[in-house]
Amino acid sequence: MLRGIDLALRDGATALLGPSGAGKSTLLRLLNRLADPDSGTIRFRGEDIRRLDPRALRRRVCLVPQLPAPLPGTVAANVRYGPSLAGRDVSVERPLELAGLAPSFADREASRLSVGEQQRVMLARALALEPEAMLLDEPTAALDEQARDGVERTLAHLVARTGISMVVVTHDRGQAHRLADRIVEIQNGHVAAWA
Ligand SMILES: Nc1ncnc2c1ncn2[C@@H]1O[C@H](COP(=O)(O)OP(=O)(O)OP(=O)(O)O)[C@@H](O)[C@H]1O
Ligand SMILES: [Mg+2]
Repeated sequence: MLRGIDLALRDGATALLGPSGAGKSTLLRLLNRLADPDSGTIRFRGEDIRRLDPRALRRRVCLVPQLPAPLPGTVAANVRYGPSLAGRDVSVERPLELAGLAPSFADREASRLSVGEQQRVMLARALALEPEAMLLDEPTAALDEQARDGVERTLAHLVARTGISMVVVTHDRGQAHRLADRIVEIQNGHVAAWA
């Protein structure tokens, strides 16, 4: 349960830090309209997000879920899917590259990749939509230290190269400091600290 959250998330990278059950994933879901608050208002660039079409909002602000859930089919098909719903045909090369996947991944079956690779596919799927902001829910939770360092480098490059805004959920304070300009700490559904 989230209560009394009064937050403004700015451009750049923000980390949402907090223990398991604190409400981090719930907050991302609210920002993406996968849930609505019982009271209060969430605004994106000044506009109440309930006034926006949820699908349009989710193209502008992309959620990469805690557990990767690729669609059946190849990596390329996964990357093309979102833009195709909006009537756009995209090249898969750039999203793959930004997500740190070699071009040879394009023809591989997404569901047969490792969890870390699938997480990068989910990142590439989000990037193919050219969103203004990305919401990343514990992008390295399932990874070993080496794979985690790789994903952190990818995310840091992404912010530097594309200027995309990012909200990264993590329970790892070190990661929050490595990845983010700002840290919002959530405990028991409240904002406990904000730096
Ligand atoms: N719509 C809802 N209404 C009330 N409570 C909810 C709702 N959705 C989730 N919760 C509860 O809020 C709490 C926080 O859940 P959430 O998944 O956001 O935690 P989290 O910080 O992401 O934890 P983890 O690090 O384990 O992923 C949980 O106890 C969950 O059951
Ligand atoms: Mg969570």
